[in-house]
Amino acid sequence: MELDLQWSDHYLVGVDEIDAQHIRLLQIMRNVFELREAESTSPALIKILYELKKYAKFHFKSEEMLMELYEYPDYEEQRAEHQKIYSELKSKLKALKSENDISDLLYFVVHWFVGHTRDHDRAMGRFISESRLGLM
Ligand SMILES: [Fe+2]
Ligand SMILES: [Fe+2]
Repeated sequence: MELDLQWSDHYLVGVDEIDAQHIRLLQIMRNVFELREAESTSPALIKILYELKKYAKFHFKSEEMLMELYEYPDYEEQRAEHQKIYSELKSKLKALKSENDISDLLYFVVHWFVGHTRDHDRAMGRFISESRLGLM
């Protein structure tokens, strides 16, 4: 599994507030990984996982508001993807209560960030930044 969760300019989407949120999101994800190395499901790890869930909700909402505002054509697709990620995150967090293994959740978190951000969010970011420049 690719565990590199360092920020890279490859993740830039070109919309300042979204880039700032992605940096924060990645920071929370890194905290999850750091705590995982210390203990498997410690209270500190559970706390940071719930912070991740809360921040993900806020972040998805922010992107959805921007997409609506700028009438992004792939809004529905992106929103459906957010809902899928969020409900998967919730069910994986629930599963942690019965299993003590967080590797499945870690794998999911990395793929969510790398896949969704570099693909869907960048396309959205390009559209919004061009709209802001009055090019669309
Ligand atoms: Fe995003
Ligand atoms: Fe997104």
